[in-house]
Amino acid sequence: MFENLAPRPTDPIMAIMEKCKADTRAEKIDLGVGVYKDAAGQTVILESVKKAEALWGAEETTKSYVGTVGNQDFCQDMLELMLGKDNPAITEGRIGAAQAAGGSGALRLGAELLAVVAPNATVWASNPTWANHIPLISSAGLKMDSYPYYNRETLGVDFEDMLSHLNDKAARGDVVLLHGCCHNPTGADLSPAQWDELAGFMLQRGLTPYVDLAYFGLGRGMSEDTYGLRKLVATVPEVLLAASCSKNFALYRERVGLVAAITATADKSAIARSQFGAIQRKIISMPPDHGAAIVTRILRDEPLRKLWISELDAMRERMLGLRAQLSDALNVQGGETMAAAVKNQNGMFSTLPLSKEQAEALRSEHAVYLMNSGRINIAGANSENIPRLAEAILAVI
Ligand code: LMR
Repeated sequence: MFENLAPRPTDPIMAIMEKCKADTRAEKIDLGVGVYKDAAGQTVILESVKKAEALWGAEETTKSYVGTVGNQDFCQDMLELMLGKDNPAITEGRIGAAQAAGGSGALRLGAELLAVVAPNATVWASNPTWANHIPLISSAGLKMDSYPYYNRETLGVDFEDMLSHLNDKAARGDVVLLHGCCHNPTGADLSPAQWDELAGFMLQRGLTPYVDLAYFGLGRGMSEDTYGLRKLVATVPEVLLAASCSKNFALYRERVGLVAAITATADKSAIARSQFGAIQRKIISMPPDHGAAIVTRILRDEPLRKLWISELDAMRERMLGLRAQLSDALNVQGGETMAAAVKNQNGMFSTLPLSKEQAEALRSEHAVYLMNSGRINIAGANSENIPRLAEAILAVI
């Protein structure tokens, strides 16, 4: 039977990651896959994680199964971190959550839940969106469509177009996938005033937000990066949330994520949790425990938590510094719009107004690895190579 197998195209992000790995030029600059790198180009294990692992290694007494909804202490800690301990959705018991295998596992569990409760709903995703959103969510059998989001001329959010498109095209009961912060691939986020307006719009139009929060803490700060989520939860009765600890805890390969259904009434939250458990059981049975145990160990230990916050702050500030430096270097005739955008955008990514051919030229002629869409991961640069990076970008445009 395997003779009938046809090769499938590789995921574009993974394909660029492989190409960059294979390039032997010492001067290469890897702005491809979304992982944080330090000034030496390394994706190190956080000190807080190392310490928590040592402590946890001594404390852990069993490797027996945890269960299909995973570590519920982790879920509670994460929800308190994102929403605030006193958030009414938490205190009123209106959240059914499960630990998931990374942010992707969480997105898929959320999509599978939608396929149970709203099989005819369309899930609206921003144009553009993370390359894996559409495969992950549509694999659950859901219909997907897109709303305008990023303007490749102004390099900002087309907020009016976004609302008017959803107003005209989305039906009551549809779901709108939103990047809670650090939009992937553009780095262009909604302002607090736009989140306020969007929340009111979603309520009035009967649309359910599905928030993907994969980079919180790495944009402008913990409270800034969770503003949109908190606003939606306060305004709209039902919200679906997928969160990841890959980036902010640098636990990428441990696959640590959380899916949560914020329900209108407390009696539905336990049902939502049991649905997540039943769905997860059918796919992977249960999520891996180690990374979630480490996150919980950190969040429940004051010194470790402080250390993690300081490490998170350092990652974010380094990226903001790189953004400012690249912006200054691009701020020459013809590069002004890019310069302003790179400075104002959030998180790891910006999408530069480059064609596929220009991205290819950057890779082949300048050893600068970025996505064909023009997406760069600013954390892949460093203060020494930014002048060369800016020159290369300006040379191809
Ligand atoms: C990215 O967008 O590069 C990251 O989220 C890694 C991935 O899995 O695609």
